Amino acid sequence: MVAATITTTTTSSSKPNETLSLRADSLDVTDDIPLDEKVKAIIRGTGKLQLNRTGLGQNENRVKITAGPDPAGLEILPDEARTRMEHSGVDLSKGYPEIPDISQVPVFVDEAFAVRNEDYPYIEKGKNADPEKKALFGAAKEVIDLTKHIGTEIVGLQLADLTNQQKDELALLIAERVVVFFRDQKLSPQKQLELGDYWGQVEKHPQAAQVPGLRGVTVIWNDYKNKKGMGLTFKNSNYSNWDSDKFAPKGNQAWHSDLCHEHQTAGYTHLHLDSIPGVGGDTLWASGYAAYDKLSEEMKRFLDGKKAVYVSAHSYLDRNDPFGGPKRIERVHPLVRTNPATGWKSLFVNRTMCKRIIGLSPVESDIILSYLKDVYEKNADIQVRFTWKPSKPGYGTSAIWDNRVSQHRSTWDHEGHESRHGTRVTSLAEIPYFDPESKSQREALGLPLDE
Ligand SMILES: [Fe+2]
Repeated sequence: MVAATITTTTTSSSKPNETLSLRADSLDVTDDIPLDEKVKAIIRGTGKLQLNRTGLGQNENRVKITAGPDPAGLEILPDEARTRMEHSGVDLSKGYPEIPDISQVPVFVDEAFAVRNEDYPYIEKGKNADPEKKALFGAAKEVIDLTKHIGTEIVGLQLADLTNQQKDELALLIAERVVVFFRDQKLSPQKQLELGDYWGQVEKHPQAAQVPGLRGVTVIWNDYKNKKGMGLTFKNSNYSNWDSDKFAPKGNQAWHSDLCHEHQTAGYTHLHLDSIPGVGGDTLWASGYAAYDKLSEEMKRFLDGKKAVYVSAHSYLDRNDPFGGPKRIERVHPLVRTNPATGWKSLFVNRTMCKRIIGLSPVESDIILSYLKDVYEKNADIQVRFTWKPSKPGYGTSAIWDNRVSQHRSTWDHEGHESRHGTRVTSLAEIPYFDPESKSQREALGLPLDE
């Protein structure tokens, strides 16, 4: 019990780093107020929370909750990002980024689980789109496939100007090609949000840093997290690609898929980088369709219909054991899922979020999941590595991918010496399902399967 502390950090700008440690054995337990209510009241009253499991070193996992706009972030906001925000009318007067108000942040994992736990309608915009994508391709200057199996770049179109027909065709293209890129984009965070809203309910994260006043536009900015103590370095940036349980992921260098723990998981996801290093900071994606097709037909048959447990990236407290360490949201989804736009089967596995296969022993599950993760990560022919490249002043670059059929990760080779900042909007999709009648990508396209 006393091995854990809850460390609170004051919000006072005059003492930004002052911390108060609350030990389990320091709480008054002589009254009738339940322990969870006491802990919650302290957290809500403090404004910032960081929970550490002591003595775990590299294994340490953290709950970090801060609140409101952050003046400390504004100090290091890259010029390109600042200009984009100011030109878009974003209020930076109180700070940047904005963390949801402490009164809105779930403290306990059951509260976090309840967020968006109800079914809500999802209309797959890619499903009835023109398979030839005449409106989209007809307006583009160039359409370039970056690799054979994954990744396409569209040249000569502004995302902010797309018609609904073009958005539908783009959704289908993303679902087919897994990730689609647009360079030299003039895109406000408001327009990015509007585009995400078109494709599905935009995820509004209960903890993550947002653009001030624009819930749903998540800030992707490792320099800021590092300033807040993430401790990302050249040496440790990839540890979690070996063991994500032992080494909690820092930043986004570990292979993952976004928001797998949601009831209706992430679909079309749009990352727009407005500040890009001159060299480095690439992002990699891998195709879940192709990962599935890499498997033997016997392995495919074994995995079809299986389910697995997926966890959230962020942690919360257990109401019944608030000093017992961080807890993550868990949900069960199909291990092989059918994409509603293409109808193709995809391997829904990733190193950091997919934790165990239902029905197998822990040993069997670990061995099989480890192999499946390797299939994704070690087959370079099913991956694309994208170099963002700085755009002309006032412009940025967008990547839009289908989280249902992919994994991704970034690289930390620029080591924070040059700024890398962007905004992400995620459209949540359907409740994941497996259609036993659905085909693999290569089956559907009539490509050889080697057996
Ligand atoms: Fe991600």
